[in-house]
Amino acid sequence: MSEILKIIKERQSARVPYDSNRQVPKEVLRKILEAARWTPTAHNMQNFDIIVVDDEAVLGKIGSIKSKISEEFLRENLEQLSFSKEELLKKKTGILGSMFPPEWTDPAKIPEAVKKAAPMPLTQSIRGSLTLLIVVYDTRKRAPASHGDVLGFISLGCLMENMWLMAQSLGVGMQILSAFSAPPVETEIKKLLEIPDYMRIAYTCRLGYPLGSSKYLRVRRDVQDFAYHNGYNNKVV
Ligand SMILES: Cc1cc2nc3c(=O)[nH]c(=O)nc-3n(C[C@H](O)[C@H](O)[C@H](O)COP(=O)(O)O)c2cc1C
Repeated sequence: MSEILKIIKERQSARVPYDSNRQVPKEVLRKILEAARWTPTAHNMQNFDIIVVDDEAVLGKIGSIKSKISEEFLRENLEQLSFSKEELLKKKTGILGSMFPPEWTDPAKIPEAVKKAAPMPLTQSIRGSLTLLIVVYDTRKRAPASHGDVLGFISLGCLMENMWLMAQSLGVGMQILSAFSAPPVETEIKKLLEIPDYMRIAYTCRLGYPLGSSKYLRVRRDVQDFAYHNGYNNKVV
């Protein structure tokens, strides 16, 4: 397997706790930021800034911000869940329901689960990570003639993958934390980090060295499931 494909396949969401005694070295972080620097973006807009958070006190303040699960998230999350390994292997998309508390995976119990859910401090999402990369973008700008700035958002995705593959190649675990981008959590983080109103948090990368294995059952569709040849009626074989 070529080296690049190996890294692409081995990259994964490292959702386990990270070693809180092991910092990502400065030169390693620098390489991840260098990979960010060379991200392809629509019209070469480079429509992002990255706030590296590695100060203990600042991490502590972010960690104490509380987030609450929403009914919208739970309902839409359900659509991506499988309830057995066999089902997931057959579907080839989505994730296992066992990654979530049982009351989040039963449609009948969701309203009650949302009512009962206590606000959770972000420290439970940070889980020992000593380095967060908070990716922000300027809402006043958009890629030329790009309705809803879809090209701008795609560019932010390219940034994510560039950093993720570089982290993977350097043996650094990474997880995306979308919860930091949803108000009111986003509002509090922006206030704390003095991020201007017109900027929004796209996503946060949690970096570090996983404690134990972060392997889990990962599935993908086969090439024949999504690739077509010279027309949507001809599958690639
Ligand atoms: C835009 C985006 C947002 C994501 N948000 C989260 C998140 O909030 N929490 C999380 O654990 N994973 C998040 N992920 C990771 C995906 O769930 C993950 O990439 C997918 O399930 C495939 O698993 P893999 O990364 O292990 O290959 C996000 C990924 C993307 C691209």
